[in-house]
Amino acid sequence: MRQHIVAGNWKMNTTLQDAQALVSEITNMVADEVTDSNVQVVICPPFPFLTSVAKLLPEGGRFHLGAQNYHHKESGAYTGEVSAQMLKSVGVEYVILGHSERREHFREDDQLLSQKLNAALAIGLKPIFCVGESLETREADETFNFISKQLQEGVFHLSQEDFAKVVIAYEPIWAIGTGKTATSQQAQEVHAFIREQIAKTYDAATAENTTILYGGSANAKNAQELFAQPDVDGGLIGGASLKSRDFTEIIKSF
Ligand code: G3H
Repeated sequence: MRQHIVAGNWKMNTTLQDAQALVSEITNMVADEVTDSNVQVVICPPFPFLTSVAKLLPEGGRFHLGAQNYHHKESGAYTGEVSAQMLKSVGVEYVILGHSERREHFREDDQLLSQKLNAALAIGLKPIFCVGESLETREADETFNFISKQLQEGVFHLSQEDFAKVVIAYEPIWAIGTGKTATSQQAQEVHAFIREQIAKTYDAATAENTTILYGGSANAKNAQELFAQPDVDGGLIGGASLKSRDFTEIIKSF
């Protein structure tokens, strides 16, 4: 069975106090209410709160620490940047990359993303690599071509062994933070397409074992239907991950 993952991307939200309260609430609720042992939970707070959040995550269980970004170089004169090595040294296991907000606001292109991916894998961080089309691309009926290009240029240069360590997240840009979720059918059709591309590039077993998350206005109400789709293996959750009750309900939605 493929691993199910629910990742909470807190984006640029919370103070230290909010972060500590939120993670304590989530871990308590999950401990009391979640029984499915196949669900892993990744918490991705802002950089300054990583170590404080790490201290509050139960060790050796389903909880993992994730980061929202990093620089692809190991160290050096890059004022304001944080390297993958630094993240690893404070207990980070997962890193998000290719998020449309990074692609759009910080001009991260496929070439840079492939370097970032290599940097994460080189030191044993697990990448959550995001792909997803704009509304304009969807309306032009170009979604599949667009996603295929993002995969080709960002991630399919990896060896099969390295690719096996990557989680893919499908996040249609038009659904992020808009309250406009993709229907479960729209999500399933793109997830199935991604899996097919993985099978063509690597092989059927690799495709079968790849965890593919959905992101974009997923919430406590729609998660169950989304997660019931055969190729949807969990979610990358933004807004709803900032509410402990909603996030816990999403984790319970498999
Ligand atoms: O990384 C998370 C996604 O951008 C989804 O955000 O759940 O607020 O739409 P959202």
